[in-house]
Amino acid sequence: MRIVLVGPPGAGKGTQAVRLAKELVIPHISTGDLFRANISQQTELGKLAKSYMDRGELVPDSVTIDMAKDRMEQADAENGFLLDGFPRNVDQAKALDELLTTEGIKLDAVLDLEVPEDEVVKRIAGRRICRNDSSHVFHVTYSPPKKEGVCDVCGGELYQRGDDREETVRTRLEVYHTQTEPIIDYYKAQGLVVTISSLGPVDEITQRALGALKREKAEQ
Ligand code: AP5
Repeated sequence: MRIVLVGPPGAGKGTQAVRLAKELVIPHISTGDLFRANISQQTELGKLAKSYMDRGELVPDSVTIDMAKDRMEQADAENGFLLDGFPRNVDQAKALDELLTTEGIKLDAVLDLEVPEDEVVKRIAGRRICRNDSSHVFHVTYSPPKKEGVCDVCGGELYQRGDDREETVRTRLEVYHTQTEPIIDYYKAQGLVVTISSLGPVDEITQRALGALKREKAEQ
């Protein structure tokens, strides 16, 4: 399947993407994780991305689209992928459509995770991620690691993301409403949007998502 995951910061996209990708046997492609990997490797792209991410703004399309395309063209994504954090504005959605058309393939669904803003703020405030791999995500209250400050998956150090500060979170939410939400209407016009609530236990949401994706696929 080829799926786009959309939802506000802290909705649980990364948390669900890891589980859904495993269940559906497709790679999880997160532009946020790709940027964070570039930042920790101190590449030129990482240095550029950091200046935008620290302010809670979108990294320019000129570099983001090429990075996402490069990743989607790798062999493991040949038969499907789960995009997390891309596309993030209508121009990126159009660029993705162009790429898919060139390759003669289509998206199967756009999974929209709905969660109230006060819950998003609580989730982001308590989030801790692993220095070795930013897809290893924990929460100090909702999903604490077995040992405080240590990643259960790989033993790496857990830290709070630089863009999870309250001020930056406000900008990220505003950017989501003004630039990312319009892609939901863009994809509704293509009949691809499946909306589910992202409230409740993580495993329940995974089952909800899998059920909704299965129904969407059956209707096509
Ligand atoms: P990105 O890394 O994509 O961040 P985001 O979209 O803001 O989303 P988050 O990672 O904050 O949240 P999430 O929905 O993945 O939630 P999570 O699962 O961690 O992007 C970061 C930045 O990179 C952007 O601001 C931008 O600058 C740049 N960027 C990335 N892509 C770009 C693009 N395409 N174009 C331009 N710029 C781009 O969950 C949050 C917390 O809640 C965790 O602690 C988790 O444990 C907990 N949690 C999860 N589910 C539950 C649950 N059901 N109940 C209780 N707690 C839960």
